[in-house]
Amino acid sequence: MNRIAVYPGSFDPVTLGHLDIITRASQLFDEVIVLVSKNIMKTNSCFTYIERKQMIERVIGNLSNVKVDISDGLLVDYVKNVNAIAIVKCLRAVSDFEYEFQMALANKKLYDGAETVFLTTTAENMYLSSSVVRQIASFNGDISHFVPNDILPDIEKRLMTKE
Ligand code: PNS
Repeated sequence: MNRIAVYPGSFDPVTLGHLDIITRASQLFDEVIVLVSKNIMKTNSCFTYIERKQMIERVIGNLSNVKVDISDGLLVDYVKNVNAIAIVKCLRAVSDFEYEFQMALANKKLYDGAETVFLTTTAENMYLSSSVVRQIASFNGDISHFVPNDILPDIEKRLMTKE
């Protein structure tokens, strides 16, 4: 049996925290699908779905069991379609817990065929989020410690203002 996991998120843009979770998930499952998904609470995206997908593809390098896809529908429909056994999510702090717990229970109610598996962030990525990256970049701050080098120019070009 091919044990497939789906790691959904906005990834706007992908950060080193996401990349750490992708790498660790790829060691736990036969195949990991990083799913650029629609979060209806986030209306102003910085990068298009296709741009986000392409940036993730560039940074996953030689992780041969990882692929990237896009979905603008319900997560569980996608999970069911690809026969995934798990939904991978990341927990950074207690503040993530309530929201993630609610989504995990709702997803389980909608589709019983997959488990949500939480991976805890590493200590150095605890504070890291795409919105922190976007905010620092839009004030022309240094984001090189937060995002993979390969996509640094894309983010700087999109968000940094020229003096
Ligand atoms: O990175 P994010 O924005 O915290 O990820 C949230 C995301 C995209 C995983 C969540 O909004 C989601 O699952 N969207 C897909 C639509 C869906 O199934 N929503 C119901 C979740 S209970």
